[in-house]
Amino acid sequence: MIQWGLQGYHNGRSMKVILSPPALVASFVFLFCLEACLWVRNLRLKRRLPGPFAWPVVGNAMQLGQMPHITFAKLAKKYGNVYQIRLGCSDIVVLNGDRAIREALIQHSTEFAGRPNFISFHFVSGGKSMTFTNYGKQWKAHRKISQSSLRAFSSANSQTKKAFEQHITAEAMELVQISAANIMCALCFGRRYGHEDQEFRTILKKLDKFGETVGAGSLVDVMPWLQSFPNPVRSVYENFKNLNEEFFTFVKDKVVQHRESFNPDVTRDMTDVIIKGIEHSQDSGLTKDFVEATVTDLIGAGQDTISTVMQWILLLLAKYPDMQAKLQELIDKVVGQDRLPSIEDRSSLTHLDAFIYETMRFISFVPSPSPTPPPQTSTIEGLHIPKDTVVFINQWSVNHDPLKWKDPHVLTPHDIISGVMIFSTGKRRCIGNQIAMVEAFLFTAVLLHQCSFESNPSEPLTLDCSYGLTLKPLRCRVSAKLRGKLLATPIQTHKSHQYNKTTCAANFIHL
Ligand code: HEM
Repeated sequence: MIQWGLQGYHNGRSMKVILSPPALVASFVFLFCLEACLWVRNLRLKRRLPGPFAWPVVGNAMQLGQMPHITFAKLAKKYGNVYQIRLGCSDIVVLNGDRAIREALIQHSTEFAGRPNFISFHFVSGGKSMTFTNYGKQWKAHRKISQSSLRAFSSANSQTKKAFEQHITAEAMELVQISAANIMCALCFGRRYGHEDQEFRTILKKLDKFGETVGAGSLVDVMPWLQSFPNPVRSVYENFKNLNEEFFTFVKDKVVQHRESFNPDVTRDMTDVIIKGIEHSQDSGLTKDFVEATVTDLIGAGQDTISTVMQWILLLLAKYPDMQAKLQELIDKVVGQDRLPSIEDRSSLTHLDAFIYETMRFISFVPSPSPTPPPQTSTIEGLHIPKDTVVFINQWSVNHDPLKWKDPHVLTPHDIISGVMIFSTGKRRCIGNQIAMVEAFLFTAVLLHQCSFESNPSEPLTLDCSYGLTLKPLRCRVSAKLRGKLLATPIQTHKSHQYNKTTCAANFIHL
């Protein structure tokens, strides 16, 4: 007899129920009828906010398309900046546009700082993720320790600033994904991984898929029944569970090694700071297992975002050669040929910062931060959002709001940069924004100083991308050509690492 697996959660524990096909069909019919009744009741009882017609069972899931953030912005033109959709059995409010989103995240910052209890969130960082946990005392303690450990290894004093800069400059000579992860590993574990390290490469390749499940509009959290039979959503979800487990085990292993050799008088890296802050302080408010969760969160958040922004920057530089030439001319004038760009050059290279911010605005590669369920009824732009309704924040729409930007769909680096929203805002804004901007600046400056980037004429570059927590360019090739002599970097002395001309000279980089 063919048997079908049904996976559920009971008291936080996973349980497997095996159903025969007739029982499965009966369950579906029952669920369908239940949903249809709820749907009719909803229509009669609470006509809610404006929004499109929602079908029973699936709601508006079929309308989201490949790029939900663009669909959300289109729906806003019809229904206004605050409207309601239905995904599976969940009512969802979508906020769009600069004014509505800032009103929610800044003026009502506490109400919009929560996170829903989505099942997929339970798999991140061993179930103790700060990023995917609800607002409360524990999240505050977790955020405090994460922020202070990041600061201790980046902006705390001139020595840490310099060491941080050196990691970035050196890594900039190798490219994108592995380098971004290595910067976080250098801070967290005091070591980097060779680009040939198979374990590291495999984990990063898998992490690339992390955002597919936790991006706003991901169906598995609003239609948990999709887990009960083979379908593409279930496969993505299974991969998500596996990659989280593998990545968490990788980090846990390193944390265990740190614990064994921990010496309170010597701080080797961020993991030591986090162990000290959580395990060796009286009032951290967090248990021991939050150490590995914090390190996992920081590496995960710091790797995926930076590697994605660098992929877009390289793609746009190759796509717009005039912009690239203008930036190189400026860098050559300020830095010259005999040294690499440094963080001190930033004040003279404001046009480069403008290009980076404009890339972030134009692509808005974090289109919707995690959903938030306000714990009490809230009013945004005069419209009532019922308590606990899941709210999607369409960050992309802020950066393409025609009331705010003259030509939102054109890439135009302005020297005065303000109002780009890529790190979210309010209580849950990114804690890595400053180090992210330093990383993006140094990476781009060093790469442009050393190399020129070109597209392959037979493969024109497009802005097509895949949707998730981050928008990633579809696979494409950009060639990097060495511009002059390759300069030495501090990391060249590192024993596990060898740079040579092929790193940069006329190599095709797969983005
Ligand atoms: C260009 C790079 C980056 C972008 C665009 C970015 C964007 C964001 C956004 C939009 C959020 C809010 C997420 C949400 O509400 O669910 C966030 C949160 C967060 N970011 Fe970043 N980030 C970047 C780099 C980094 C780096 C380098 C780190 C760490 C080293 C980091 C650590 C975090 C953490 C821990 C949170 C969770 C904060 C909380 O929930 O309280 N991010 N980031």
